Amino acid sequence: MSEPKQDNLFANPLGNVPGFVFDQAVVDVFPDMIRRSVPGYQTILSHCGALASRYVKPETHCYDLGCSLGASTLAIRANIEGRDATMVAVDNSAAMLGRCKTILESSPSKVNTQLINADICDIDISNASLVVMNFTLQFVPLDKRLALLEKIYRGLNPGGCLIISEKLCFEPESLNSLLSDLHHQFKRAQGYSDLEISQKRDSIENVLVPETLETHIQRLRTCGFHSSSPWFQCFNFCSLVAFK
Ligand SMILES: C[S@@+](CC[C@H](N)C(=O)[O-])C[C@H]1O[C@@H](n2cnc3c(N)ncnc32)[C@H](O)[C@@H]1O
Repeated sequence: MSEPKQDNLFANPLGNVPGFVFDQAVVDVFPDMIRRSVPGYQTILSHCGALASRYVKPETHCYDLGCSLGASTLAIRANIEGRDATMVAVDNSAAMLGRCKTILESSPSKVNTQLINADICDIDISNASLVVMNFTLQFVPLDKRLALLEKIYRGLNPGGCLIISEKLCFEPESLNSLLSDLHHQFKRAQGYSDLEISQKRDSIENVLVPETLETHIQRLRTCGFHSSSPWFQCFNFCSLVAFK
């Protein structure tokens, strides 16, 4: 397995910045990219493990939707051994899932793990005690999000837990601009240049479509989740739990 490289995909002027895709070039730098771009990423991962330890029940399924290189799957697996639970990790990027397979194989676990290369809107979800979507829903087309969450709700067992981590937007625009500036300041402190920050922003615009916290909470309620709340927020990045 090749060593993760430093993310310099946006370091040189690109002219017309192409729309962001999860291709092999992104796979090669992804661990560095997400660590330096998402404030609180490690905290969210380790607490997904802690939540898995609480909520994953014996002989149930635990889903990692948009698993990328399997960071959430690894954190969860480490906390659910001996429960005869099945981990299901799904991603529609073949490049991501290929590398994910190699990474998971290099970290053996007794937890039965299935990798699925598919759109999360098309898979079956059943007998779930935990569903995790860490920074994935934001890439699903807006008009498919409600149906996806309804499907997740139906597939969860009573008492089951959903974790959704997302970039948020805020109202009014002055608040959005403040939290966005604080995020860019975080990225500068992680070594990204102003050019990298602005080209990445252009590339990801219209690909990553954030929503407000209120929109997330309202949609979860509409789907039937009886309670939901953010459990972590840093600037414009947030992680929520919701319960069936
Ligand atoms: C920001 S990454 C997720 C990071 C990962 N969950 C983690 O914690 O490291 C978003 C991932 O979601 C995947 N993705 C986006 N839309 C998807 C969809 N509709 N179906 C399946 N995977 C999707 C992308 O290929 C990408 O690997």
